[in-house]
Amino acid sequence: MANSETTARSDRPSTLFAEPFVVDDSPTVESCARIVESESGVLLGDAERVLKMFPDRSVQMVVTSPPYWSLRDYHIDGQIGLEKSVYQYIERLADIFDEVKRVLKDDGTFWLNIGDSYTSGGRKWRAPDGKNKARAMSVRPDTPEGLKPKELIGVPWRLAFALQSRGWYLRSDIVWDKPNCQPESVKDRPTKCHEYMFLLTKSESYKYDVDAVKGPNGRRIRDVWSVNTRSYKEAAGHFAIYPIELVEPCVKFGSSEGDLILDPFLGSGTSAVAASRLGRRFVGIELNPDYYELSLKRLCAEGMYAKGKVYERDCDSVDC
Ligand SMILES: C[S@@+](CC[C@H](N)C(=O)[O-])C[C@H]1O[C@@H](n2cnc3c(N)ncnc32)[C@H](O)[C@@H]1O
Repeated sequence: MANSETTARSDRPSTLFAEPFVVDDSPTVESCARIVESESGVLLGDAERVLKMFPDRSVQMVVTSPPYWSLRDYHIDGQIGLEKSVYQYIERLADIFDEVKRVLKDDGTFWLNIGDSYTSGGRKWRAPDGKNKARAMSVRPDTPEGLKPKELIGVPWRLAFALQSRGWYLRSDIVWDKPNCQPESVKDRPTKCHEYMFLLTKSESYKYDVDAVKGPNGRRIRDVWSVNTRSYKEAAGHFAIYPIELVEPCVKFGSSEGDLILDPFLGSGTSAVAASRLGRRFVGIELNPDYYELSLKRLCAEGMYAKGKVYERDCDSVDC
């Protein structure tokens, strides 16, 4: 994976770039049905509420990274990640992913990126983080029941088991190894440099093109992917974006040109950019109007035309 290249602009299917995409800040059942039928779209709203407007079995593939638990404040009512307990957070995500399961085709795949965190070690306050404003949350949550201070919580696996018990097939745990991860000041454990990408499905057999991406020497891809994290100027300090190189293989394995790819936590729009570069349709949902706008600008800089929005000036200045 370390050698995988992102799809160059000139290699991308040109016909799809002429296509506009729907921008909807108050989605309805009708606008969602239109997108499912033949379009792409970026929708503003709460993931669970908007997903409920989608028809059953309407998307081929889902790829997403939900907010971490108790790590970032996105400063918006209804945001996920600030639940008082990690158990509430997992229940809430599992409820949303029940909706994801409903809208996913029976042969669809769900690629879920999720990172872990530690209990607070007794500290109640998180010191302001100069490098990352969004991490400067004033209060750290209590240590979850059953855990001790300073413990790794195991959020990804707790969530994976919750999803298994709600009927998902857990098909693979892919370790996202980050060769350029941030150094840590902690001196009594190794530096954390990985997250998970889980591959979950609705059925025992599903659409998966095993030859879509090859490893070194034409070998089949293994389940440790080394991909550098990337900074994205306009999102810096607000939230963690995932690199397009992490998303592209998922899209290639799990879908074909023209298929609809969903990201219910769109953020800066990485999944939509990856989908469109590979000639797939996309639909993204985002709660925060600022990030929703950011994703529109980013798609616009990709050469896509947002119906009803014009970014003539901003477009050129967006650094993707
Ligand atoms: C980790 S970020 C996703 C980043 C994205 N993968 C990217 O590369 O830009 C999680 C996103 O979920 C959004 N979010 C939080 N709660 C939400 C909710 N209830 N419904 C929809 N989006 C939500 C946040 O505003 C944030 O943009």
